[in-house]
Formats: sequence, structure tokens, C-alpha cells
Amino acid sequence: MIPFVDLKAQYRAIKPEVDAAIFSVLESCEFTLGSEVRAFEDEFAAYCQTAYGVGVNSGTSALHLALLAAGVGSGDEVITVPFTFIATVSAIAYAGAKPVFVDIDPRTFTMDVAAIEAAITPRTKAIVPVHLYGRPADMDPIVEIARRRGLVVIEDAAQAHGAEYRGRRAGSLGDMACFSFYPGKNLGAYGEGGIVVTDSPDFTRTVRMLRDWGSEKKYQHVLKGYNYRMEGIQGAVLRVKLRHLERWTDGRRVAAACYDDLLAGNGVVTPESTTLDRHVYHVYAVRTDRRQELQDALHAESIQTGVHYPIPVHLQPAFADLGYRTGCFPHAERAAHEVLSLPMFPELTAEQCAAVAGAVRRLARAA
Ligand SMILES: Cc1ncc(COP(=O)(O)O)c(C=O)c1O
Repeated sequence: MIPFVDLKAQYRAIKPEVDAAIFSVLESCEFTLGSEVRAFEDEFAAYCQTAYGVGVNSGTSALHLALLAAGVGSGDEVITVPFTFIATVSAIAYAGAKPVFVDIDPRTFTMDVAAIEAAITPRTKAIVPVHLYGRPADMDPIVEIARRRGLVVIEDAAQAHGAEYRGRRAGSLGDMACFSFYPGKNLGAYGEGGIVVTDSPDFTRTVRMLRDWGSEKKYQHVLKGYNYRMEGIQGAVLRVKLRHLERWTDGRRVAAACYDDLLAGNGVVTPESTTLDRHVYHVYAVRTDRRQELQDALHAESIQTGVHYPIPVHLQPAFADLGYRTGCFPHAERAAHEVLSLPMFPELTAEQCAAVAGAVRRLARAA
């Protein structure tokens, strides 16, 4: 059996360090925020080439608070993409604003920068590009448009820990960036977690207050805040795992290169290669117009796959009130029909890659 992700293999490899980190929190009883979270915030911000980090309890909370800190509220519009996990869009709704979609570039699955200007209205406050699958969105034009039009840029970097755009780290490319530490992410907690990173002391102060009931001093509530604090155990585990992240990313990139080589010309479209940017392959998605057949064939050989994502957000019943219809965003809709995510994790071996590729090739030959 080849799993889609293998969290157990990763835990086995770092068990003594993780166990010691968890036990240290049991001893200190710093269960919520505390010194491990503070240290992790500094270490992860430095990793992202930013000045500040504010740890929270999920990537969704990170997005919600970044939007609030940017001043987004009722009556405002926020531009993002429909081909993303629903959390990107839900966070905009949490802030009381209206999500406005632009289509994706079908070659990269990230925001089509040529479509942004037409989506801007006097109500637009922010742009939320998504570094989908671990590939950075085309940030230079996005930031240029935002500066010219007075908009805030919030990166949804939930899938992009360690990704780089033109040599700069995801997280440092906009005004604020939000990461998720959901267990299956490239840097995953042992539970839920997220962070906002930024160079701005003002955004940092606001997000810090908002995550902890709007207070800087206990029982003095400056803002209407939330209970979005990061847990001490997650901070301690994430500090351990951050030390391994570069090695794990290299493992993902080696596995992706192996897939690229073995799959080229075999009935699927592999991710477009990029030498300018560093794709961290949270997801390795191929495209095929025979997705169900391919998924079934792989399943028959005990190879797990996933679909990220089968329904674009503009066609989800939950967001029917936005008034979009089939045909509004053809590239997102087509991607949703064609993408198939192959097994991808740092410990994926060359033999496992070859077995997956062999199954894909057999189906192509049988066509
Ligand atoms: C693109 C994207 N945005 C936001 C999130 C939300 O993160 P979380 O699950 O930690 O709330 C996720 C992950 O689940 C995601 O993939």
C-alpha cells in the first residue's frame, strides 16, 4: 500500500525529540501561549524572512485575524480565487466582507494576475492570493497593483511553508501572510495551529490582541477579540519540526522531480516546472481528462490519491449567495474536473514513486 501521506513514518523518525518537547510542556504547564509558542513565533518568522509572527489556533483563524487587522469589515470586498480550500473564502465571510473571485492561471493553478484590475471596485480592501499546492502566486504584479490601488495583500500560505518567489520566502511577499499547521501540512502540528507573519509592528500588535480576547493586559479589552490562542504543546512540537523542514522539503522536491521524469508523455500533464521559484509540493497534482479512471486504476493497485479540490468555491452551495454560476471561472472549473493528487510526502522512496508512475503509465498504454 502506498499512502497519500505518511505521518507515522515522520513521527517514527523524530519520536525522541517530539516526545521530549511534549513532556517539557507537561512539566511547565504552559498549555496555552507561553515560552515555547513565543520562541516558535520568532523562529518561524525568521524562517519566513519576516520580523514578527503571531501564533494562533488554525490557519483559518490566521486569515480571519489578518483580514480584521487590515481593516476589512462589513461592506468591503476582498479579491481571491475560487480554486482553493474553502477556508480562504470562509475567513473573508467571517470578517463580514464579500469574497470576489478572479480565475486562476491554468498553468500554475494560482491567481490570474491579468484578471485582477477588472475585479477591483471602490469597495475592494484587500487581495488574498493563494500559494496553492506549495507554488507561490505571481506576487510582483499582485503587489504592484495593490500598491497602486491602495489595497492590502494577505498571502494565503497555508500550503507553502518554505516556498520561494524570485528568491524570497512565502510569507514575506505581501503585507501579512497566513500559514496553517494542520497535521498533514508541510509543517504540521500534533493538533491544530496557524500563524500570521508580517514586517509590520502595527498589524502584529492588532493580531496579538485579537487572538487573545482583544487584550494586551489581562482583563483589559481594547478590541472585541477571540479565543484563537496557539497551544503550548503545538508550539513545542512545531519548534522541533521546523528544524527538519528544509530536509523534508528537499525530500518532497526529489520525489516531485522523480514523478516529473517518469510521468512526462504518459497521458497526464505534470506540474509546470519553474526555475525562478521554489515549489514545495504540498500537493503534487497531475491533470487528466480521465481522472476517475486513473484514480480507480491507482486504487486497484493500493495507491492512495486525493482531489484538491473537486468543486470550486464559487459553485459550492455554501456560497451560492454570491450569485456565481457554472461558466464564471472556466479555468478553475476545468481544473476541478481534471486534477488528481498523487502520494506526496518527504519519505516517499524512489521505489514508491516508480510504482505510482508505473500504474499511471499502464493506464496510458491501455488507452
Ligand atoms: C489554502 C488553505 N487556506 C486555509 C487553510 C485553513 O487552515 P486550517 O485548516 O489550519 O484552518 C487551509 C488548510 O486547511 C488551506 O489549504
